[in-house]
Amino acid sequence: MEIENKCGASTICFGNALSLIYKHLPKYRRIIVITDENVAGRYRTLLRHFEQIVIGMGEDNKNLQTAMTIYERLMEMGADTHTYLLGVGGGIVTDITGFVAATYMRGLDFSFVPTTLLAQVDASIGGKNGVNFHDYKNMVGTMRQPEFVICDVMMLHSLPEREFRAGMAEVIKSAILRDPNLFELLERCDPDIQRGRVDVLFSVVLSAASVKNVVLAENEVEPGKRTLLNLGHTVAHAIEKLTHEVNHGEAVAIGLSAMSWVSVRRGKMERAEAKRIDALLTKFGFNLDMPAGILAILHEARYDKKKFDDKIDIVFPEAVGRCVVEQITFNEFESMFL
Ligand SMILES: NC(=O)c1ccc[n+]([C@@H]2O[C@H](COP(=O)([O-])OP(=O)(O)OC[C@H]3O[C@@H](n4cnc5c(N)ncnc54)[C@H](O)[C@@H]3O)[C@@H](O)[C@H]2O)c1
Repeated sequence: MEIENKCGASTICFGNALSLIYKHLPKYRRIIVITDENVAGRYRTLLRHFEQIVIGMGEDNKNLQTAMTIYERLMEMGADTHTYLLGVGGGIVTDITGFVAATYMRGLDFSFVPTTLLAQVDASIGGKNGVNFHDYKNMVGTMRQPEFVICDVMMLHSLPEREFRAGMAEVIKSAILRDPNLFELLERCDPDIQRGRVDVLFSVVLSAASVKNVVLAENEVEPGKRTLLNLGHTVAHAIEKLTHEVNHGEAVAIGLSAMSWVSVRRGKMERAEAKRIDALLTKFGFNLDMPAGILAILHEARYDKKKFDDKIDIVFPEAVGRCVVEQITFNEFESMFL
C-alpha cells in the first residue's frame, strides 16, 4: 500500500522505499546519498546505485565538524547547485543532511528516507534541522523542508529493540496529543509491533506521523501550536542531561507519565486516564521510575529554561487525545512536583 500526505512544502510517502525513491527522485539530476556506517552496510542493495557520503554513528557525530567533512566531500565530488541530496538514516542523518542541504552553496534540494521509528514519526517531518554545538543540542541549524520523506516500515525490522522503543515514546506522545484511536489500537495490539503484523506497524507509523503533520499545519495558522509537540519533553530533557543511562525515548516516556499525574493533581485530567497512560507505557517496556531525584531534575530544567525567561510553556494532557498549552512561571512548574 502507498499513501502520500502533504506537509507544508513536503510530501510524506508511506510504502516501499525502493519504488518510492524511483518514483520521486528527480530523473536527470545528480543524486548524492548521505547516510551512516550502519545504514550503508545494511542497505547496500538499495543504495548501490548512488554516490554516497557515509558519516559516523551517534550523537557525537552530529556536529559542525561532520558538516564540514560533508562540505569537503561535496566539493571534492564537484557537487553544485543542481546536485540533489538524499538523507537515508535515523534522525542524526536527517538532521545533518537537512542542515548541509540548507547551507552548501546557499541551498540544495533534498529528501529523506528515515530508517528509524523516531525519524519516521518525528525527526524527518517539519523541516527543523541542525547540529549540536559545544554541549547544546541542535544549537546551530535552519528550517528547510525536504521535498519528500519516504517512510518504509519494513526498514524498521532491523532496528535494535531499544532504538525501536525510543521511537514508541514519540508514537505514544502523538496518541496522547491528538489520536485516541491510535492510543486504543496500541492498547489492543501485541506489544511486539516491531516484529508483529506489518499492517499494524504501518497504521501506527502513519497515524503518529500524521499527528505531527496536523499540528504543524495548525501552527501555520495559529503560531505557537507547535509547542504541543513538547509534551513531556521539559522533564525528559532534564533527565537526559542528568543521566546518560536513559535514552531520549525512555526519558520522554517518564516525562509523559509525570505530566499526566501533574495534570491529575491540577484537576485537569481524570485519574483513570493517567493510569491508562502509565499502563500503555509500561506495556511497551518503559520503566517510569524517575532515574534521579526530583530536585535535581527540576534544577536541571530550571537551568535549561532560565537562559530565556522565567516563564515556561507547559503542555498538560486533559484526556487521551486532548492536550493544552499553558504558560506558567518556573516556580509554579516546580511546585507541581513537590
Ligand atoms: N529535526 C527534528 O525535528 C527532530 C525531532 C526529533 C529528534 N531529532 C533528532 O534525531 C536524533 C535521534 O534520531 P534517532 O533516534 O533516529 O537516532 P540515530 O540517527 O542515531 O539512529 C539510531 C541508531 O540506529 C541505527 N539505525 C538507523 N536505521 C536503522 C535500521 N533501519 N536498522 C538498524 N539500525 C538502524 C543508526 O545507525 C544508529 O546507530 C537526535 O539527534 C534528535 O535531536 C530531530
